[in-house]
This record gives sequence, C-alpha cells and structure tokens, in this order.
Amino acid sequence: MATNIIDWTDSWQDKLDIKAQTESADAISARFCEEVAEGKLPFCSMPYMAELLHDLDGLENYVQGFDHMLLLGIGGSALGARALQKAFFPAQDQPCHKGPWLWIGDNVCAKTLDSYLEKLPLEKTLVAVVSKSGGTIETISQYFLIRKRMQEKLGEKWNNNFLFVTDKENGFLREQANELSIRTLEVPDNLGGRYSILSAVGLLPAMFMKMDYRSLVEGAAEILSPLASPNLTTEALIEHPSYKLACWNAALMEKGYNELIFFSYIPQWACFGQWFAQLWAESLGKEGKGSQPIPAVGATDQHSVNQMFLDGPRNKACMFLTCDSLPDGEEIPQNIPDNFGYIKGKNFGELIHAEGLGTKMALSANSVPLIELKMAADSEESAGRLMGLLMATTIFTGWLIGINPIDQPAVELGKRLAKARLGADGLKEEKADLEAFLCNTRVEQKF
Ligand code: PA5
Repeated sequence: MATNIIDWTDSWQDKLDIKAQTESADAISARFCEEVAEGKLPFCSMPYMAELLHDLDGLENYVQGFDHMLLLGIGGSALGARALQKAFFPAQDQPCHKGPWLWIGDNVCAKTLDSYLEKLPLEKTLVAVVSKSGGTIETISQYFLIRKRMQEKLGEKWNNNFLFVTDKENGFLREQANELSIRTLEVPDNLGGRYSILSAVGLLPAMFMKMDYRSLVEGAAEILSPLASPNLTTEALIEHPSYKLACWNAALMEKGYNELIFFSYIPQWACFGQWFAQLWAESLGKEGKGSQPIPAVGATDQHSVNQMFLDGPRNKACMFLTCDSLPDGEEIPQNIPDNFGYIKGKNFGELIHAEGLGTKMALSANSVPLIELKMAADSEESAGRLMGLLMATTIFTGWLIGINPIDQPAVELGKRLAKARLGADGLKEEKADLEAFLCNTRVEQKF
C-alpha cells in the first residue's frame, strides 16, 4: 500500500505549545481504549464491516441493475456520498456520460425536487433514503413526495425501488421498512452521520457507482486499526498522525487561530472539503470553542477567497491537500504567443503543481501555519486513509479542548422552531417565542 505523508515543515510547531497538549495523552489513550471497548467509537473499530461488505455483495446485482440512484439524505447522510462521487465518479459531470447516475437530494429545494420528479425514469430509479434517526424532516418530506409518485407509476411493486439506510431498530424509516417490506441496510449504533461515511451511508452509493469501496475501507482501516487496538499505548497514541494533528489544532486554537482552511489542490477532491467542514464544525463548535473550517480548492480559489487567507485577519491555519501523481494531461502547444512562452510544452499536471507550490509558499510567507497532506495517489485507498485520519483527529481535538465531539446540541433549537412554525404538536415554549419574534418591529429597507 502506498503511504500518504504529512509534511510538518511549515506548521510552526516550534511556536505553538504542542507539549501542553501531548501531556493529556495518558488520559486520552485510556479513554479511547475504554470507548472503543464499549462500542462508542465504531467509526474507528468498524465492528460492523464484515457483515456490511457481505450485505453489499448480496445487493450488488440488484442495486447496479438501476440506471439512477436518488439518494435522499442531509448532512452526514449526504456529504460523504457527494465527496466520493465527485472524486471517484467524475464521469457524471463530463460530456456524453451514459450512466449510471447518482442524484443527491440534500435540501428542501422545490425546483430540484420537481426536476427529479418530472425527469427521472422512476422505474429505473432506486431511491436510497439515508437517515440514521429515520425522522429528519428534509429527508422524510422528500421521501413522502417520491413515494407517492412511485406508487402512482409502479403500483403494488413500488417498494422494490426503495432502499433505506437507517437505525436497526428505531425511527420512522425502520417502522416503514417493517410495515412495507422495504429493503434496508443498517447504520450501526453510536455512528453519527458525520462519522458514517464508511458505513452503508457512504458505501451503498459507492457500490452503485462501481467504485473500489473495499480499498477505501482498507485505507481507513490501515490508519485506524492501531487506535482501535485494545493495547493502544500512550506512546503509540503520541506518534499517531491523528493525535499529532489534534495537538497541533488544539494548540492553534489556544493561540487564537479560530479558522482552519482545508485547501485541496486535488481539484476533484474539492467536496472532501465540504465533508470535512461538516465533520469539524458540527463536532467542535461548542461552548465558544473550535475553529471555523473553510473549504477551498486550488487553483479556482486563488482567484477568489485566497486574498483574505493571505492578507486578511491573521487567525487562519491551513491543511493543504496535494497529490504528486495527478495525471499529466495535455501539453500546451508550441505555437502560442511569446509572452506565454514559459508554458510552451508544459502539461496540465505541471501547471497545478506549480500553482499549488506557489500558493503554499505564499500562505507560509504570510504567516499561515500550514501542514501539507500529501496523498500517495488519487485513489480510494488514499482517500480512505485521509478520512480515517480526519475523523480520529476530530475526536482527539474535541477531547483536548474539553468538548463532546459526538453530539450537536446547538442545531436543535432551529429545528424545533421550524417544527413549531409548521404547527407540530407540543413545543409550547417555541411557539410562544416564535410569536414574540414575529411581533418584533422589523427594521427594513428596500434595495
Ligand atoms: O452528522 C450528523 O450527525 C448530522 O449532520 C446528521 O447526519 C444529519 O442531521 C442527518 O441526520 P439523519 O441521518 O438522522 O437524518
């Protein structure tokens, strides 16, 4: 297996108090062992994997028999699938693609849903409804609409075109699956959305797209298995790249670096930035702590947000993603004007590398502490290692800064208020708050 590298050269390790962070290693290794043993960190130990791979094998012909997969899910139930799709199934966004097609409905957007309802050939579409809780309103409301259309179109056999990925016992989707005989795959206990990419949540769409999802899992297992070992020692933890990255991040936060750029110079991996942003933000934004993740992609964002990275507030650190073995692509022809002479005969691979190097050096010269994540290959296996690394880093960072990286309590208020607005039962307090809020005199201006 080819190995990815973290380059720490420009990380400012010597200017940060990393030592204070590593001092927690004893307590953290003990806690990690305990939580793995209690089944609280299945993203790391993956006890469900053998059964899942077996189930996916059994479903392969059925799933790949459809031309379209419409994945309904939101947050952690969608972002991993999109990252994998954009990185390893780019054909769908390229001219003359002839299928299969993966569509991801992760919003409440009438225009998008209407276009799915009008244009998808429903008989050739598998609807994958992905929700750990089985009750997320954005996902379930889409399900209700598509179900109605499917019933109208396919009659009694409509349920053959649905597959649920949800909790094994609880929630509305589980009840529906039992009642209506709908196929399911399980989201294991204690595996919250943003840590679930290596469960059926990510692997089902990956299998549909005929990706090498086993290599993805192997890559992640390679990086995570030393942590999942019941014999994890403090020394092993201290040396593990995820813990080092967590200590670096916690030390940065301590010094007021409250923004973290995820700059991908593997253009097709740009959506890993969105996936990481959710993982980092929902896990760590608590009690006034954390750092705001900022996904960016090279070279596009050199002409966009990079000015702010370079010369705005000096509160940003950066994780810079590169891969030396990107395809070379076409050579620039010789017969071009002299003022572009320096790119004559150069290929596209050289261009992206030069731009990446320039940006990395410029960030460094402008006092942005930076680590480079060098991917060995643009492959599923390297991506698996990256995802395993980042999930473990997130947990350790949360523990180092003293918050719970698994829950997301603050997002509940908005959900309750929206439900109150829609007239859900109960929610007396929210309804009263809403009324008061809506009675506020608005300060408005035309534009
Ligand atoms: O990471 C998380 O836990 C959340 O973002 C969830 O993925 C999101 O809220 C969707 O939840 P569910 O899978 O229960 O529909």
